[in-house]
Amino acid sequence: MILNFGSINIDHVYRVARMPAPGETLAVKSYERFLGGKGANQSIAIAKSGGTLRHIGAVGADGDWALGKLNAAGVTPGFISRVDTPTGHAVICVDDAGENQILICGGANHALTQPQVNAALDAATGLGHWVLLQNETNLTTEIVREAKARGFRVAYSAAPFVAERTLPLLEAVDLLAVNALEAEALARAMNVQLKDLPVPSLLMTRGEDGAIFRADGEDIEQPAFPVNPVDTTGAGDTFLGAFLARLTTGDEPAEALKFASAASALQITRPGAADAIPSQGDVEQFLKERL
Ligand code: RIB
Repeated sequence: MILNFGSINIDHVYRVARMPAPGETLAVKSYERFLGGKGANQSIAIAKSGGTLRHIGAVGADGDWALGKLNAAGVTPGFISRVDTPTGHAVICVDDAGENQILICGGANHALTQPQVNAALDAATGLGHWVLLQNETNLTTEIVREAKARGFRVAYSAAPFVAERTLPLLEAVDLLAVNALEAEALARAMNVQLKDLPVPSLLMTRGEDGAIFRADGEDIEQPAFPVNPVDTTGAGDTFLGAFLARLTTGDEPAEALKFASAASALQITRPGAADAIPSQGDVEQFLKERL
């Protein structure tokens, strides 16, 4: 069981030929609304990859659409509270190469409460459980502290990277997930080499350069599956969710890495973040065709 204390966003996605320059006004090619938020994306990736989870989060009065989408994707909204602040949202530009620029507005994601956190942890306390979190909700320090006090293992996606939020958590983190840019920023902030990041295990996703899982001093490398990207938003979230799901259902790390790499390869061939996450069946079919 994975308890994901995670953000939920409404993603406003604008397709552009190229990213706007500072001070420039640029007409978009299209606009669509998708479900997103690093937490929601990761939860859906876990659910669709066969993992079991509870998502703990918050939405506003406008949250029905997001809750409906989560539910339809296999994420039960029982631990998601309804608060006075509007649901978090993101403004995302995606260019012709599928690359993105993202602005986030935290909204309800910053309205988690300590009683809500404690109740979710208490309801799941036991051996073998993971807590997952990112930098898009409030109470990250408290979540980690309370999770460790109850014997949970902690997986932490240090995204979006903010040194002041990330550094105090590292000591308690069992699995740190970062992309290449986040890894470099973290190493710089700690004044260490990348290989010396002080965590028991590290998952580093590097886009088309593949991914590395480091544990017990050993690196397992997984090349990326080549695909034509349509939209890379949420690829890292998909990778982490799928990886954790497979790991917690008994796969060896190398198998889990391969599955997660295929899941995120497929995900970037579709538009949107959460909406683009493939099912376990789709990933297995993709792997059959590619291996
Ligand atoms: O990682 C991608 C996500 O970042 C988007 O879905 C957006 O909501 C932001 O949280």
